[in-house]
Amino acid sequence: MSAPALSEKAPTQETRGGSGAMFDAIAERYDLLNRILSLGLDQSWRRQLVEALGPDPKHVLDVATGTGDVARAIAARYPRATVIGLDPSGGMLRAGAEKFTGAVSAVQGDGQVLPFPDDAFSSASIAFGIRNVPDRSLGLREMRRVVVPGGPVAILELGEPRGGLLAPFARFHVRHVVPTIGALLSGKREYRYLQSSVAAFPPPEEFVAQMEAAGLKEVSATRLGFGAAHLYLGRSA
Ligand SMILES: C[S@@+](CC[C@H](N)C(=O)[O-])C[C@H]1O[C@@H](n2cnc3c(N)ncnc32)[C@H](O)[C@@H]1O
Repeated sequence: MSAPALSEKAPTQETRGGSGAMFDAIAERYDLLNRILSLGLDQSWRRQLVEALGPDPKHVLDVATGTGDVARAIAARYPRATVIGLDPSGGMLRAGAEKFTGAVSAVQGDGQVLPFPDDAFSSASIAFGIRNVPDRSLGLREMRRVVVPGGPVAILELGEPRGGLLAPFARFHVRHVVPTIGALLSGKREYRYLQSSVAAFPPPEEFVAQMEAAGLKEVSATRLGFGAAHLYLGRSA
């Protein structure tokens, strides 16, 4: 499958919180900010997401790929696989251009209308992206549609830490430290959006139910980082 050229502006969404256009504004510093704001945990969480796509995927779709970290990690972990990273933000895709080479290609597009036929992929992932998809249920149904029956659909997402001894500290980090440092370092207000969108994301039980309602089977949720993130895994049907 060949990758369409990247246009200057994301064509599928207007500028709104979480849209591709919003991410265009922070693309250049996104990778560095991610490392700092997640206290370096984001990379280990991504590795767990990548493991969930095994054992031997042939063709993998990474939705909301951003600067391509997950797409690259998938190709490194599964050397026989080809990987497509899809994102509406031309800025994010361009900022990660050096990661979209060899087995990894970039496609500019919207997770709600995936430009691929049914059963085109052996598995699909989305890291820190489902929160930004305006119609979440449509995004989930699209991932199910393009993955072969039985293939894994793995989702990594942040949420408000709930329960557990360290949850209050993790909550303080997400509510106060993340938007403040994010805004200071990037000089942008977009990181305020991050905090409010994390707070608005449903608790794990509710999101598991949304995945099941989208037609995914054998859905599970694994708590990561004191509940600051979860790895959700389902199988296409
Ligand atoms: C927080 S970034 C995550 C990027 C990457 N997955 C990572 O792990 O670093 C969220 C991404 O979601 C993308 N996004 C926003 N709306 C989207 C949509 N409707 N469909 C797919 N991706 C979308 C943004 O452009 C942005 O690159």
